[in-house]
Amino acid sequence: MDIPINLHRMTGELDQLATFSETKPPGVTRIIFTPGDLRAREFLKGKFREAGLDVREDAVGNTFARWHGAEPDLPAIGTGSHADAIPNSGRFDGTVGVLGGLEAIRALQRAGYRPRKPIELLLFTSEEPTRFGLGCLGSRLLAGVLAPEHAAMLCDSGGSTLEEVRSAAGFYGQLDEVKLPQAYYEAFIELHIEQGPTLEREGTALGIVTDIAAPASMRIIIEGEGGHAGAVLMPQRKDALTAAAELILSVETAAMSTGVIDTVATTGICEVFPGAVNSVPSRVKLELDVRDVEGQRRNVVLGLIQQASETIAKKRGVSVRSELLNADPPASCAPFIIEALVQSCAEQACTQKQMISRAYHDSLFMARIAPVGMLFIPCRGGVSHRPDEYASPENIADGTRVLAQTLARLAA
Ligand code: HGY
Ligand code: MN
Ligand code: MN
Repeated sequence: MDIPINLHRMTGELDQLATFSETKPPGVTRIIFTPGDLRAREFLKGKFREAGLDVREDAVGNTFARWHGAEPDLPAIGTGSHADAIPNSGRFDGTVGVLGGLEAIRALQRAGYRPRKPIELLLFTSEEPTRFGLGCLGSRLLAGVLAPEHAAMLCDSGGSTLEEVRSAAGFYGQLDEVKLPQAYYEAFIELHIEQGPTLEREGTALGIVTDIAAPASMRIIIEGEGGHAGAVLMPQRKDALTAAAELILSVETAAMSTGVIDTVATTGICEVFPGAVNSVPSRVKLELDVRDVEGQRRNVVLGLIQQASETIAKKRGVSVRSELLNADPPASCAPFIIEALVQSCAEQACTQKQMISRAYHDSLFMARIAPVGMLFIPCRGGVSHRPDEYASPENIADGTRVLAQTLARLAA
């Protein structure tokens, strides 16, 4: 099937979307419900409407753009991704799946294709954990795996709750109405950059995801005694930051101890109080991210980190409180969607390989309520979550064409 992608327009839209940001180019920062995020939402909804799609938003800002098929009451074929971006990151993470999904639909319209089943483009709210400490907030609520009352009380670093922030942004309605009914989607496919080096290194055009790794995150508060940097002698110290330093290294050791390359652990946040050069740190907040394609093996690492915390606390006379923020199971992609993607790659003359996703995505939670598939395009050097994140127009076009072909196949 000839899929006429308008690459010039699509790359222009990606460039425009990147301007809705709290940081200067080339970095992008677009945190849920900040002005940049709200401008990006308006921009995207405008594009969805221009394409003749029926647009609605739910109580937490998930945005649905539907192409009603000949039989509009049938379960839809869904596609989409996120447009929020962590601080000082890139402009392709998530956005390729949103604008690629839109361009796939527009190309099918231009090709004269008419779907029997609805095709729906979904813009997820807050895939990144930045503001409320929990990734995939919108898709967790869609999948019903996050209690609405718990979500409402999630707090950002300024102490504002999700409830306050979402209503200030104009999103009212009940969070318990966000959950989608079973069989709302017959299939859901997300186009995304690989966020890893494999496709580029092997010169393969596209990645067909078989499994999505299981993420967990933990908050650890370490409290010591602090004091004057000159007056408190070393033997008397209960230094929260040196204890944290030992704990951070034990996080790394715990991940390496499985001896399996798929186990990863990162201490991405370390906040020191009071943060004065001449004051012994009295409190440190750490936030960790631990993942593995096998949930059980990941949980062993979480246990090792807990043990290390207790040992260090005793040894250094500090208190250590840890809170597990999330520990989600991995997800497997649906064989029939993998097969459809393989066929579409062949028809679009794109090389492909099957692979796991080490990054998590909203599809990890959509898999709880629908069969899912993911399609990866290469990103330069495997770099992501950095301003130099880059995907070429050619790779984006390959992914969009194969996505379009697959949506057409499944919605026929
Ligand atoms: O962290 C992740 O895997 C995703 O990019 N939010
Ligand atoms: Mn990301
Ligand atoms: Mn992403």
